[in-house]
Amino acid sequence: MRMTIAAVLILLSGGVALAVVGGGDVTLKNDGGDVVFSHESHVQMAGLGCRDCHPKIFLNTKNHTAVTMQEMEAGKSCGACHNGTKTFAVTENCETCHSKEQAK
Ligand code: HEC
Ligand code: HEC
Ligand code: HEC
Repeated sequence: MRMTIAAVLILLSGGVALAVVGGGDVTLKNDGGDVVFSHESHVQMAGLGCRDCHPKIFLNTKNHTAVTMQEMEAGKSCGACHNGTKTFAVTENCETCHSKEQAK
Protein backbone atom coordinates (compact mmCIF):
# COMPACT_ATOMS: atom_id res chain seq x y z
CA MET A 1 0.00 0.00 0.00
CA ARG A 2 2.80 2.40 0.84
CA MET A 3 4.22 2.03 -2.66
CA THR A 4 0.82 2.52 -4.27
CA ILE A 5 0.25 6.07 -3.08
CA ALA A 6 3.85 7.03 -3.83
CA ALA A 7 3.52 5.64 -7.37
CA VAL A 8 0.23 7.47 -7.93
CA LEU A 9 1.72 10.74 -6.71
CA ILE A 10 4.73 10.35 -8.97
CA LEU A 11 2.40 9.77 -11.93
CA LEU A 12 0.32 12.81 -10.97
CA SER A 13 3.43 14.95 -10.92
CA GLY A 14 3.93 14.26 -14.60
CA GLY A 15 7.51 13.12 -14.20
CA VAL A 16 9.13 16.06 -12.43
CA ALA A 17 12.84 15.77 -11.71
CA LEU A 18 13.64 13.42 -8.85
CA ALA A 19 15.52 16.15 -7.00
CA VAL A 20 12.19 17.90 -6.30
CA VAL A 21 10.67 17.00 -2.92
CA GLY A 22 7.13 15.64 -3.40
CA GLY A 23 5.14 18.06 -5.54
CA GLY A 24 7.75 20.84 -5.23
CA ASP A 25 6.54 24.41 -4.70
CA VAL A 26 2.83 24.73 -5.42
CA THR A 27 1.23 28.15 -5.94
CA LEU A 28 -2.34 28.48 -4.69
CA LYS A 29 -3.92 31.57 -6.22
CA ASN A 30 -6.66 33.26 -4.18
CA ASP A 31 -8.11 36.66 -3.24
CA GLY A 32 -5.90 37.01 -0.17
CA GLY A 33 -2.69 36.97 -2.23
CA ASP A 34 -0.90 34.00 -3.80
CA VAL A 35 0.26 31.31 -1.39
CA VAL A 36 3.33 29.26 -2.24
CA PHE A 37 3.17 25.90 -0.50
CA SER A 38 6.62 24.36 -0.06
CA HIS A 39 6.93 20.56 -0.02
CA GLU A 40 10.55 20.98 0.92
CA SER A 41 9.81 22.81 4.18
CA HIS A 42 6.96 20.47 5.13
CA VAL A 43 8.73 17.22 4.32
CA GLN A 44 12.36 18.05 5.10
CA MET A 45 12.10 20.82 7.69
CA ALA A 46 8.87 19.85 9.50
CA GLY A 47 9.56 16.13 8.98
CA LEU A 48 6.07 15.23 7.72
CA GLY A 49 5.33 12.16 5.62
CA CYS A 50 3.41 12.22 2.33
CA ARG A 51 0.56 10.42 4.06
CA ASP A 52 0.13 13.18 6.62
CA CYS A 53 -1.43 15.14 3.74
CA HIS A 54 -2.06 12.76 0.82
CA PRO A 55 -4.60 11.69 -0.26
CA LYS A 56 -6.90 12.70 2.58
CA ILE A 57 -6.27 16.45 2.72
CA PHE A 58 -4.70 17.17 -0.69
CA LEU A 59 -4.49 15.48 -4.06
CA ASN A 60 -3.00 17.79 -6.70
CA THR A 61 -3.49 21.23 -8.23
CA LYS A 62 -5.58 19.87 -11.10
CA ASN A 63 -8.22 18.49 -8.73
CA HIS A 64 -7.90 21.35 -6.28
CA THR A 65 -11.13 22.64 -4.76
CA ALA A 66 -10.56 26.00 -3.14
CA VAL A 67 -11.50 26.37 0.51
CA THR A 68 -12.09 29.61 2.40
CA MET A 69 -10.16 30.82 5.43
CA GLN A 70 -13.31 30.18 7.45
CA GLU A 71 -13.23 26.51 6.40
CA MET A 72 -9.54 26.36 7.28
CA GLU A 73 -10.29 27.74 10.72
CA ALA A 74 -12.73 24.84 11.05
CA GLY A 75 -9.90 22.42 10.30
CA LYS A 76 -9.95 21.97 6.54
CA SER A 77 -6.97 22.03 4.20
CA CYS A 78 -3.97 23.86 5.74
CA GLY A 79 -6.11 24.31 8.87
CA ALA A 80 -5.78 20.61 9.69
CA CYS A 81 -2.38 21.54 11.18
CA HIS A 82 -2.23 25.33 11.13
CA ASN A 83 -4.56 25.59 14.10
CA GLY A 84 -2.31 27.03 16.80
CA THR A 85 -1.84 23.62 18.40
CA LYS A 86 0.13 21.56 15.89
CA THR A 87 1.73 24.67 14.41
CA PHE A 88 1.03 28.38 13.79
CA ALA A 89 -2.63 29.23 13.20
CA VAL A 90 -4.45 30.53 10.12
CA THR A 91 -6.22 33.12 12.26
CA GLU A 92 -3.02 35.16 12.28
CA ASN A 93 0.37 34.97 10.53
CA CYS A 94 -1.38 35.94 7.29
CA GLU A 95 1.83 37.10 5.66
CA THR A 96 3.68 33.89 6.52
CA CYS A 97 1.53 32.18 3.88
CA HIS A 98 0.26 35.03 1.69
CA SER A 99 2.71 37.09 -0.30
CA LYS A 100 3.38 40.28 1.63
CA GLU A 101 2.37 42.66 -1.17
CA GLN A 102 -1.16 41.32 -1.49
CA ALA A 103 -2.04 40.03 1.98
CA LYS A 104 -4.38 42.10 4.08
C1 HEC B 1 1.90 19.28 4.65
C2 HEC B 1 1.13 18.67 3.60
C3 HEC B 1 1.83 17.91 2.49
C4 HEC B 1 2.78 16.92 2.61
C5 HEC B 1 3.43 16.37 3.87
C6 HEC B 1 3.04 16.47 1.26
N1 HEC B 1 2.28 17.16 0.37
FE1 HEC B 1 2.17 16.90 -1.65
N2 HEC B 1 0.86 18.45 -1.83
C7 HEC B 1 0.40 19.22 -0.78
C8 HEC B 1 -0.40 20.30 -1.29
C9 HEC B 1 -1.04 21.40 -0.47
C10 HEC B 1 -0.44 20.13 -2.69
C11 HEC B 1 -1.22 20.99 -3.67
C12 HEC B 1 -2.58 20.35 -3.75
C13 HEC B 1 -3.69 21.20 -4.20
O1 HEC B 1 -3.47 22.17 -4.90
O2 HEC B 1 -4.82 20.87 -3.80
C14 HEC B 1 0.35 18.95 -3.00
C15 HEC B 1 0.56 18.45 -4.27
C16 HEC B 1 1.36 17.36 -4.56
C17 HEC B 1 1.59 16.84 -5.88
C18 HEC B 1 0.98 17.39 -7.15
C19 HEC B 1 1.68 18.66 -7.54
C20 HEC B 1 0.86 19.50 -8.49
O3 HEC B 1 1.42 20.52 -8.95
O4 HEC B 1 -0.30 19.21 -8.73
C21 HEC B 1 2.44 15.78 -5.76
C22 HEC B 1 3.00 14.91 -6.88
C23 HEC B 1 2.76 15.64 -4.35
N3 HEC B 1 2.08 16.62 -3.65
C24 HEC B 1 3.58 14.68 -3.83
C25 HEC B 1 3.93 14.57 -2.49
C26 HEC B 1 4.86 13.57 -1.98
C27 HEC B 1 5.55 12.49 -2.83
C28 HEC B 1 4.99 13.80 -0.64
C29 HEC B 1 5.91 13.11 0.36
C30 HEC B 1 7.33 13.17 0.04
C31 HEC B 1 4.11 14.93 -0.32
N4 HEC B 1 3.50 15.37 -1.47
C32 HEC B 1 3.94 15.45 0.94
C33 HEC B 1 0.65 19.00 0.55
C34 HEC B 1 1.53 18.07 1.08
C1 HEC C 1 -1.18 28.36 6.72
C2 HEC C 1 -1.23 29.30 5.63
C3 HEC C 1 -2.24 30.42 5.64
C4 HEC C 1 -2.41 31.38 6.61
C5 HEC C 1 -1.65 31.54 7.91
C6 HEC C 1 -3.44 32.26 6.13
N1 HEC C 1 -3.89 31.84 4.91
FE1 HEC C 1 -5.35 32.71 3.77
N2 HEC C 1 -5.24 31.18 2.44
C7 HEC C 1 -4.28 30.19 2.45
C8 HEC C 1 -4.47 29.35 1.29
C9 HEC C 1 -3.65 28.14 0.92
C10 HEC C 1 -5.58 29.87 0.58
C11 HEC C 1 -6.19 29.32 -0.71
C12 HEC C 1 -7.06 28.16 -0.33
C13 HEC C 1 -7.38 27.26 -1.48
O1 HEC C 1 -7.06 27.56 -2.62
O2 HEC C 1 -7.95 26.20 -1.19
C14 HEC C 1 -6.05 31.03 1.34
C15 HEC C 1 -7.13 31.83 0.98
C16 HEC C 1 -7.39 33.08 1.52
C17 HEC C 1 -8.42 34.00 1.03
C18 HEC C 1 -9.40 33.73 -0.09
C19 HEC C 1 -10.49 32.80 0.43
C20 HEC C 1 -11.38 33.48 1.45
O3 HEC C 1 -11.48 32.97 2.58
O4 HEC C 1 -11.95 34.55 1.15
C21 HEC C 1 -8.31 35.14 1.79
C22 HEC C 1 -9.12 36.42 1.64
C23 HEC C 1 -7.27 34.90 2.78
N3 HEC C 1 -6.73 33.64 2.58
C24 HEC C 1 -6.88 35.78 3.77
C25 HEC C 1 -6.09 35.44 4.88
C26 HEC C 1 -5.91 36.29 6.05
C27 HEC C 1 -6.50 37.68 6.22
C28 HEC C 1 -5.10 35.60 6.91
C29 HEC C 1 -4.65 35.98 8.32
C30 HEC C 1 -5.74 36.26 9.27
C31 HEC C 1 -4.75 34.33 6.28
N4 HEC C 1 -5.38 34.28 5.05
C32 HEC C 1 -3.91 33.38 6.81
C33 HEC C 1 -3.31 30.01 3.41
C34 HEC C 1 -3.17 30.71 4.57
C1 HEC D 1 0.04 17.85 8.16
C2 HEC D 1 0.21 19.17 8.80
C3 HEC D 1 0.33 20.41 7.93
C4 HEC D 1 -0.48 20.81 6.89
C5 HEC D 1 -1.72 20.11 6.36
C6 HEC D 1 0.05 22.06 6.41
N1 HEC D 1 1.14 22.42 7.14
FE1 HEC D 1 2.28 24.09 6.86
N2 HEC D 1 3.53 23.50 8.38
C7 HEC D 1 3.33 22.38 9.18
C8 HEC D 1 4.40 22.32 10.17
C9 HEC D 1 4.54 21.25 11.26
C10 HEC D 1 5.25 23.41 9.92
C11 HEC D 1 6.54 23.79 10.65
C12 HEC D 1 6.24 24.89 11.61
C13 HEC D 1 7.45 25.26 12.48
O1 HEC D 1 8.59 24.96 12.11
O2 HEC D 1 7.19 25.86 13.51
C14 HEC D 1 4.67 24.14 8.79
C15 HEC D 1 5.21 25.31 8.25
C16 HEC D 1 4.62 26.08 7.26
C17 HEC D 1 5.14 27.33 6.76
C18 HEC D 1 6.43 28.02 7.22
C19 HEC D 1 7.58 27.38 6.52
C20 HEC D 1 7.67 27.84 5.10
O3 HEC D 1 7.41 27.01 4.20
O4 HEC D 1 7.93 29.01 4.85
C21 HEC D 1 4.26 27.78 5.81
C22 HEC D 1 4.36 29.05 5.00
C23 HEC D 1 3.20 26.79 5.70
N3 HEC D 1 3.46 25.78 6.61
C24 HEC D 1 2.14 26.86 4.83
C25 HEC D 1 1.16 25.87 4.68
C26 HEC D 1 0.09 25.94 3.71
C27 HEC D 1 -0.13 27.08 2.74
C28 HEC D 1 -0.64 24.80 3.86
C29 HEC D 1 -1.87 24.37 3.08
C30 HEC D 1 -1.77 24.42 1.61
C31 HEC D 1 -0.02 24.00 4.90
N4 HEC D 1 1.07 24.69 5.37
C32 HEC D 1 -0.48 22.79 5.34
C33 HEC D 1 2.32 21.47 9.07
C34 HEC D 1 1.34 21.45 8.10
